[in-house]
Amino acid sequence: MMPVSIAIDGPAGAGKSTVARMVAKRLNWMYVDTGAMYRAIAFLCARSGVDPEDAQEVEAILQQHEIEFEEGSDGGLRVFVDGSDVTDHLRDPDVSSLVSAVAAHGAVRDRLTEWQRAFAKRYSVVMDGRDIGTVVLPNAAVKVFLTAQPEERARRRQSEFLQQGFHVPLDEIVQSVIERDRRDSEREIAPLRQAEDAVRIDSTNKTVEQIVDQILQLVAAHVR
Ligand code: DC
Repeated sequence: MMPVSIAIDGPAGAGKSTVARMVAKRLNWMYVDTGAMYRAIAFLCARSGVDPEDAQEVEAILQQHEIEFEEGSDGGLRVFVDGSDVTDHLRDPDVSSLVSAVAAHGAVRDRLTEWQRAFAKRYSVVMDGRDIGTVVLPNAAVKVFLTAQPEERARRRQSEFLQQGFHVPLDEIVQSVIERDRRDSEREIAPLRQAEDAVRIDSTNKTVEQIVDQILQLVAAHVR
């Protein structure tokens, strides 16, 4: 059978990764977390003291280091930089604060888009990100645009931070969520926007199970 793709896009904190991972598990397909790929490069910038706005320096980082991805035992993507597993550092606040500047560079996006398409060519995937339905996999069998109210997204981010041992005040997170949406939607290359043929789902008052079921129904209707 030809590999099939599901694209799940939307703003930060809408619940994409939780939902995408569960859909992938139910279908026994691969989950590809493209945000983790952008975060790997931001991690390298943070570690090397590279200015994330400087396209040339960021490109040099891409040339100098080996970045690899592997499916982890929990179905998530594990990210390796020069052979060591850095997955657990990708959501640290210092990495999060650099990532949207890193993701604005055309050279970075081209490279990651290539890697993402290579995954989708080999495996049936559930891929989440910002530009999967619009740019990376325009022919995905099912496209979902998952959103939620900013306050709800900020609360989810806050509890993620708490689990990692960081206490960040809620109003600070609301501000950074709004700021990141703005940067992601206004950037010139591959901005965050809903594909015309994507189904919009607002997760604010829904459980994860409800959303997963809705997506599985879309898959059943569109994939045969
Ligand atoms: O989903 P996330 O928070 O892990 O994404 C991290 C950053 O990467 C976010 O600022 C948007 C960017 N990103 C992107 O530009 N394109 C993607 N396909 C995935 C993420």
